[in-house]
Amino acid sequence: MTELEPDLRPYAARLNASVNEKIAEFQSGRRPKHVLFAQQFDRAFLDRLGKTADELRILSRLKESALEVRALLPHKRAMLYFTQESTRTFMSFMAACHLLGMATSEIRDPRLSSEYKGESPLDSMRMFSAYSDVIVVRSKVPQFAEVCAYLMNDLEHDQRAVPIINGGSGADEHPTQALLDMFTLQRTFGAGRGDPSTDRFHRLQQRDPGLEADLDGKTYAFVGDIGRGRTVRSLCTLLAGFRGVTFRFVSPDRPKMRLQDDLAQRLRQQGIAFTEHHSLDEVVADVDIVYMTRVQSEHDKAGDALTEEEREACRLTPERADRMRPHAAILHPFPRNDEIPAEVDANPRAMYFHQARNGIWVRAALMCHIFDVDTDVRELYDRFAGEHRSYNASVL
Ligand code: NCD
Repeated sequence: MTELEPDLRPYAARLNASVNEKIAEFQSGRRPKHVLFAQQFDRAFLDRLGKTADELRILSRLKESALEVRALLPHKRAMLYFTQESTRTFMSFMAACHLLGMATSEIRDPRLSSEYKGESPLDSMRMFSAYSDVIVVRSKVPQFAEVCAYLMNDLEHDQRAVPIINGGSGADEHPTQALLDMFTLQRTFGAGRGDPSTDRFHRLQQRDPGLEADLDGKTYAFVGDIGRGRTVRSLCTLLAGFRGVTFRFVSPDRPKMRLQDDLAQRLRQQGIAFTEHHSLDEVVADVDIVYMTRVQSEHDKAGDALTEEEREACRLTPERADRMRPHAAILHPFPRNDEIPAEVDANPRAMYFHQARNGIWVRAALMCHIFDVDTDVRELYDRFAGEHRSYNASVL
């Protein structure tokens, strides 16, 4: 384990516990109290969250129902503490909050806050909890979001404490990205509400009757900087809860970029079949999902830069994309560099722009589950779907 930042040291014992031991601190029954780890979410929760996300997506299409959605949480304020760069996570959390009527405030550059005058990040966090009802934390400091959650739990007996959502921490976890990746997979392969994205799957199924809906039994390729990217770690954790899945990890043959031992060990313990590769050519034609990631070159040290040959071996070129199975899907958390050339965007398998938009619905759904209004969403959906016979998939 890497050395902890001084601020985090008093929490060392809790940080070093196993994730399974920690989870109880982050849940309030079936409801997430804080969102720190993908391990918090079982399949039943993923289904519930996916349904809420779908309902919010549909309700948001018409003004009348969108206004009702906006009346769900107008009394809640979110603080977006994003001291690590972000486009999609930041924007989609903001859009999600606004969809639900929540106000938002933000810190993106600590030099513009009192941290510049020497205030500790944890003191800052306590201050934010005075002004908001939930804090989304994205930090390059590993385990920082987790420590914020412990701080809140220690305060909650006699002082104000608010939920903490991990919007990406160090190289360890990015649980809300994994949730939106799952929702994208559910919409791409699952039995949905008959919307166009699911029709895509049904069309393919007519051509290939053996093709099964759902995420069980599928083969997933994770490609790129497996070692330093946090999104693959979190998504693997969620997918490991599905039956008969197979993982193929494709990375440059560099110790920092390959599958790390802790994840490999966890997958072995869970009985997940997986293989490691260093070229996409070895797997591209035989998988159902290709999850691409960029090389995290901002963490490079001297000598870490890849050769063009190594980059090429992990690039989803248009030719490789064409060799994928017809129903297969391409995902990428973005930002991308040159691992997916823009020509691939027109390939019907490319799902990454849908995936980015799905971030709004999933993050809004997460807020609804944290603040206990998910059943209100269900009721709204049922009411609108019942009142408007035309409120069907083709209209919505
Ligand atoms: C990812 C991240 O920050 O972990 N981006 C995201 O949140 N969508 C991926 C990356 O930076 O490569």
